[in-house]
Amino acid sequence: MASTSPDIALPNVTMPKIDIDRVLVGQKALVTGANSGIGKAVALALGRAGADVVVNWVVGEEAAQEIVDQIKGFGVDACAIKGDVSREDQVQEMFREMRERFGTIDILVNNAGVQRDAPFDQMTLENWNRVIGINLTGQFLCAREAVREFKRRGVVPAVSCAAGKIVCMSSVHEVIPWAGHANYAASKGGIMMMMKSMSQELAPHRIRINSIGPGAIRTPINTAAWSTPEAYAALMKLVPYKRIGEPDDIGRAVVWLASDASDYVNGTTLYVDGGMTLYPGFSTGG
Ligand code: NAI
Ligand code: BGC
Repeated sequence: MASTSPDIALPNVTMPKIDIDRVLVGQKALVTGANSGIGKAVALALGRAGADVVVNWVVGEEAAQEIVDQIKGFGVDACAIKGDVSREDQVQEMFREMRERFGTIDILVNNAGVQRDAPFDQMTLENWNRVIGINLTGQFLCAREAVREFKRRGVVPAVSCAAGKIVCMSSVHEVIPWAGHANYAASKGGIMMMMKSMSQELAPHRIRINSIGPGAIRTPINTAAWSTPEAYAALMKLVPYKRIGEPDDIGRAVVWLASDASDYVNGTTLYVDGGMTLYPGFSTGG
């Protein structure tokens, strides 16, 4: 597939066509915020890899249903479940519905997230609480329900050598400070320590918890950063690999982290960022 990225330093970049083995056959996965951007690509990648998938959504039922239909096209089961991840009652109801439909959960992808940006002194408490509530508390609430089920059920060797896997969608901004986005960066820094603390506590139960730290990925959350040639050129100054990330870049990484191929990977963040965390300013400065 030819890249649609504005041409910056490289001529037409061609994305490799990579087939994901059916490494997740028989596993049951839930992806939050799965009807857009990264969550959509992750849900499709998990389905392609053989998992049955719950597509969580909060607005946009039609988009969720279309993704369910696409996933079913891979010969696996899928369903859409509505639920606001920041609401305890709705999260618990979503997991109850999933158990009713699929019996259990093997893989949780804590993906739902939002930005509400503002200069620090103009940031409202509402926008602080909203971002923390969805991005951090939402991941806690979903992870807690998944862990309860992983512990109840334990390892089923025919399915996976782990009792369960959680992949937290963090960001490069768990380590890169971000002016004008203090609520968002705080939520992602919080995810990092929650993920590590959970992993330390739960690894003895054969529960694996890791994060992905995407760099700039082409989705609706950051349209302003890539939709004009000027914005794209400015963005490329932050990306040594000189292309924007595509949602499928994250989908493939999630499949690996959710599969037994990464069984000894515990409590770490995999940055999928074209080198954004490599301090690109120092390629000429310092
Ligand atoms: P997006 O805006 O396309 O998707 C966000 C999804 O979360 C949507 O499906 C939305 O409906 C859902 N959502 C929002 N509030 C929700 C709630 N209360 N309950 C359930 N679902 C809710 O954005 P994108 O880029 O796909 O973001 C997905 C995740 O990736 C987020 O956690 C974001 O912070 C993270 N991320 C994105 C990067 C990027 O460059 N696009 C880079 C690093 C991290
Ligand atoms: C943000 C995007 C941003 C990217 C790189 C993500 O966490 O959601 O808006 O483009 O980080 O800065």
